[in-house]
Amino acid sequence: MVIRRGDEVTAFENRCPHAGWPLDTFDGRFLTTEAGALICAAHMAVFDARSGACLGGPGQGRGLTRLAVQSDGERWLISGLALAAE
Ligand code: FES
Repeated sequence: MVIRRGDEVTAFENRCPHAGWPLDTFDGRFLTTEAGALICAAHMAVFDARSGACLGGPGQGRGLTRLAVQSDGERWLISGLALAAE
């Protein structure tokens, strides 16, 4: 999953550290109503959208796996994927 805020791009593996399920297993949504947080729909673990650290729920003490992101000026390169910068 990729989160873009202006020129800041953050990417995480879509796998919850609690039980290994994709965060959007049931409803296709990742974001909480609180700014800056991601939620796993399986058992409601909440993660910081910038660091991936678990903020609450059954993922406590563990975090999302963050993927390396680089820009070549035209594209964002995310662990072998290339996404247009616009
Ligand atoms: S698998 Fe994500 S909270 Fe359980």
